[in-house]
Amino acid sequence: MARPLSIAPSVLPVDFSRLGDEIMALEKAGVDLIHWDVMDGVFVPNLTFGPDVIASTRPLVDLEFEAHLMVVEPDRLVERYVEAGCSTVLVHAEACDHLHRTLTYIADLGATPGVALNPHTPAEVIRNVRDLVGVVLVMTVNPGFGGQSYIETMESKVVEVTSLLDGYDCAVEVDGGIGPTTVGAVVAAGADRLVSGSALFRDDKGLEHAVADLRAHAEAAQA
Ligand code: DX5
Ligand code: ZN
Repeated sequence: MARPLSIAPSVLPVDFSRLGDEIMALEKAGVDLIHWDVMDGVFVPNLTFGPDVIASTRPLVDLEFEAHLMVVEPDRLVERYVEAGCSTVLVHAEACDHLHRTLTYIADLGATPGVALNPHTPAEVIRNVRDLVGVVLVMTVNPGFGGQSYIETMESKVVEVTSLLDGYDCAVEVDGGIGPTTVGAVVAAGADRLVSGSALFRDDKGLEHAVADLRAHAEAAQA
């Protein structure tokens, strides 16, 4: 039984001078949750949202917030992002010396733990933590920036992750280069939570059309 599809817009492409309005516009456009790409300038070259920035927008919408922590030593920061209002916190397997402990810590804080895999990281990495996670994120670009080219070879990894998660209550998420021309392949491979940034904001018919169009392409591909 296929899981319901979720559209999770990345906040990276928004006009930061109007962040609150942009988050409310995303809710109005019909997205399912908000995906905050948190970057520390060390794990990835870019630097983005601190917890206070996220917390400032929390009261504006009813949507779930998920934090994609592209940071080194995430244990230092997890609690701050949960307190900021993120109910799902994703850490990179590559950034954790003790991934099992970090995911358990996120759950102990009352949030849903998630693990993100860079393109070079094998799906097999999730085998011994799949009982702990509510989301596995397969990066379909190398993390750090929006607007990069989709990596087609990740489709087979989405198939592998989906197979490893058979029988587990866990979303299969993809992030990077996801738009109307790529979403069908990843959904057919098993993805059900779709992070999209630039594709949503470059639709000249507006955000509402972009969200509906992405969802329509995804639904058409779901088995
Ligand atoms: C990379 C970021 C991006 C972003 C989506 O670190 O995680 O993948 O969310 O960017 P687009 O949809 O513009 O590729
Ligand atoms: Zn992300």
